[in-house]
Amino acid sequence: MMFSERLQAAINDQINAEFYSAYLYLAMSAYLEDRDLPGMAHWMRMQYEEEIFHALKFFDFMIDRGARVILKAIDAPPTEFGTVEDVFAEVLAHEQKVTALIHNLYKMAVEEGDYPTQSLLQWFIDEQVEEEKNANDVLARVRMVKDYPPGLLMIDEALAQRPAPTPPAQEAAA
Ligand code: FEO
Repeated sequence: MMFSERLQAAINDQINAEFYSAYLYLAMSAYLEDRDLPGMAHWMRMQYEEEIFHALKFFDFMIDRGARVILKAIDAPPTEFGTVEDVFAEVLAHEQKVTALIHNLYKMAVEEGDYPTQSLLQWFIDEQVEEEKNANDVLARVRMVKDYPPGLLMIDEALAQRPAPTPPAQEAAA
């Protein structure tokens, strides 16, 4: 079926947005390492990997449909993120922005009558519910302890347990 140029361009932009998300979380990981919170830094690194997989999921979809992937420059992320609470508040705000991007893409796919893209985006719509929930859960815990070091260290130890995400190819085979 017809895969509109407009939708292809929008998905190429989304690939860039997913790579920017990856870069942002990797910058947060570096920041948290610098603050001696290796568990939180690990959580961010897993989040970075997950964003790479999101980008690749769109990438593979474009290839599968015979579309041309255009990779663009990735903006530099910030280097300073404030308190631990600020960091996780920024994760949540960022995921809310990404959710809006995904919803706009879905709206476009509906306008275009593009069912395969709608099907792909259903996965991302569900994923964004999970992404916002994960950010919210950590933020809520961080807000409970504020800057109280023993509390932060307990959260740090818990976040060190976050498992690696599943690559898209393995997900499809599972
Ligand atoms: Fe790719 Fe965190 O959404």
